[in-house]
Amino acid sequence: MKRLQGQTALITGASSGLGQGIALAMAREGAQICINYSHSQEGAEETLQEIESFGGKAMIVQADVSKQPAVKAMFQKTIQTFGTVDILVSNAGIQKDASFLDMSLEDWQKVLDINLTGQFLCAQEAAREFMRRGIVKERSQAAGKIICMSSVHDIIPWAGHINYATTKGGVLMFMKTLAQELSPYKIRVNALSPGAIKTRINESVWKDEHERKQLLKLIPYQRIGEPEDIGKAAVWLASDESDYVQGQTIYVDGGMTLYPGFVDNG
Ligand code: BGC
Repeated sequence: MKRLQGQTALITGASSGLGQGIALAMAREGAQICINYSHSQEGAEETLQEIESFGGKAMIVQADVSKQPAVKAMFQKTIQTFGTVDILVSNAGIQKDASFLDMSLEDWQKVLDINLTGQFLCAQEAAREFMRRGIVKERSQAAGKIICMSSVHDIIPWAGHINYATTKGGVLMFMKTLAQELSPYKIRVNALSPGAIKTRINESVWKDEHERKQLLKLIPYQRIGEPEDIGKAAVWLASDESDYVQGQTIYVDGGMTLYPGFVDNG
């Protein structure tokens, strides 16, 4: 039996990178997928085609996760098509980097809107649907699962990226507070905090030989991660194998959070 058989997973930002990796991994485990994207319809179609190529089921919904009407419409469409939503992966996220003094209010606000308010709006719709439907024992022991995509930068400060790091620190407490509040309804809320994973968001770093070497100094396990690394962790966190895991952040980072600078220092 596949681990997410018959469940519906709504994955934001599933047109590329981690979201795409998670969508493929969950579809392989039997979940039907709502592939959300904001700009790249092409990317969303690529995700859809790959899922269909191995006999999986998916649909595409465009929505800006920071806009409430769009988020509500996205949940409605998914529920109309697949009957309900069992899993939310709040993955959509952006970086707009600048030094603190140069950062515009616009870039500060935009990153907060997508990375933090987007998680609030999506989790609220998901929780409403989970509560309406309740537990369906044949599918899962929980009434629903929310996975918040965070980052190692929820605990590692990151100069030059204050908007991004602030949102990830926010996601950490958002997730924990939500887990505490929704536990009585048998809704599980957890976070995944990836380290450096090869996606478009950090392409400029892993494509450049010098920068890649510098980056590897921050990864004790000595490899840059792949979207599949996150896909596998997400499947486990959404499945009943992790039914007693609640309010936790799982760092999938090759040891980036182990203070590698202290190996021969301090
Ligand atoms: C960022 C990446 C970065 C990684 C490790 C992620 O959250 O989006 O750009 O490579 O953290 O620093």
